[in-house]
Amino acid sequence: MKPIQVGLLGIGTVGSGVFNVLQRNQDEISRRAGRGIQITMVADLDVERAKSVVGADIQVVNDARAIIANPDIDIVIELIGGYGIAKALVLEAIAAGKHVVTANKALLAVHGTEIFAAASAKGVMVAFEAAVAGGIPIIKALREGLTANRIQWIAGIINGTTNFILSEMRSKGLDFDVVLKEAQRLGYAEADPTFDIEGVDAAHKVTLMSAIAFGIPVQFDKAYVEGITQLGAADIKYAEQLGYRIKLLGITKRADKGIELRVHPSLVPSKRLIANVEGAMNAVVVQGDAVGTTLYYGKGAGSEPTASAVIADLVDIARLHTADPEHRVPHLAFQPNTLADAMGSLPVLPMSEVVTSYYLRLRVADQAGVLAKVTGLLAEAGISIDAVLQREADEVGGEGSTQTDLIILTHDTREGTMNDAIAQMQQLPTVLAPITRIRKEELN
Ligand code: HSE
Repeated sequence: MKPIQVGLLGIGTVGSGVFNVLQRNQDEISRRAGRGIQITMVADLDVERAKSVVGADIQVVNDARAIIANPDIDIVIELIGGYGIAKALVLEAIAAGKHVVTANKALLAVHGTEIFAAASAKGVMVAFEAAVAGGIPIIKALREGLTANRIQWIAGIINGTTNFILSEMRSKGLDFDVVLKEAQRLGYAEADPTFDIEGVDAAHKVTLMSAIAFGIPVQFDKAYVEGITQLGAADIKYAEQLGYRIKLLGITKRADKGIELRVHPSLVPSKRLIANVEGAMNAVVVQGDAVGTTLYYGKGAGSEPTASAVIADLVDIARLHTADPEHRVPHLAFQPNTLADAMGSLPVLPMSEVVTSYYLRLRVADQAGVLAKVTGLLAEAGISIDAVLQREADEVGGEGSTQTDLIILTHDTREGTMNDAIAQMQQLPTVLAPITRIRKEELN
């Protein structure tokens, strides 16, 4: 059979990886796909650099639309990123009857409903393994490998930049700002790291996993997003003393009244495997009713790890290209006509309805009765305490200090209830600074 023809939009780090791995492993890849897979056109604004990567035999253009207009191209790989021109090009490629492979989590998390609907109407595939956790085949696992299961929850370290920063903060006892600068110097964090450190990138990824796990539309706008910029070295140290590590988790969970969808720093018991995922690595834990707990670990970014995921999608498309569209694997794992309505039976819950446990740190005056007042307010709110840690004032504030840190771990409660309790504790004259609240996930 004639090789399937691929056009590549954007040949930066990931695009070069795709080109190199396809070349290096072409025999094995075509034995698996049942036909060759050939990149025959590349579009990039920097034509000279693109030519230096792909050589003279491949047509390089600076206009992505020349690829979309080429009737010989079967698959378009979009590696431009962002919601702007990438969205227009993906929709144009679909309209031109091309299958699309993309690593663009932001685009799909925000505009996925429109894009998947357009693809279904046109009978083409939109594949996005590389959009979540880079080289880890988590989309394939959720969509196909775990298809027998009623998924109960997913919790993932799905942003390598923030995991690198948190690992460094813990192991070296450094503050966030110092480690961020170091991460930028080493190339682990981008010059503008906002999407990573504010949790937005992780929220894009968990939004996609949530849709596939629970059969709901992609709803990034309903995700709760909190990054790591407010985390202090002291909280990482106290968490460790209590047997926990702090990780930025993307969490999606089936609850009684709907679906939880959230990204925030979380205390995780140090003994859990995922708590020991360090540096820029990614890991995702999935709990299904039949399979139990499963864990997926690997590189979440980088040229060839991400290329590994892009090429897996190319192989899937090469195999299914001639299949009747109804007999292909649905984009979001569930048949499109069975997706829960966004407002229907499986709404994404507001954060106030999420149930979880908490780490609280209160800077308090070191006086008689302070602990009793604080715990009294928690008791009135019906919030049960799991553990309390208080250090000697001298140890916290230096010789002769009259202030200390009071650390409280709670059992599960509703976030709304905790918000009210924190507001009341904050009013106590003996609570001397804004209360730090970090959610805690036992993941058992
Ligand atoms: N910036 C992401 C990370 C990789 O740090 O994991 C691409 O999603």
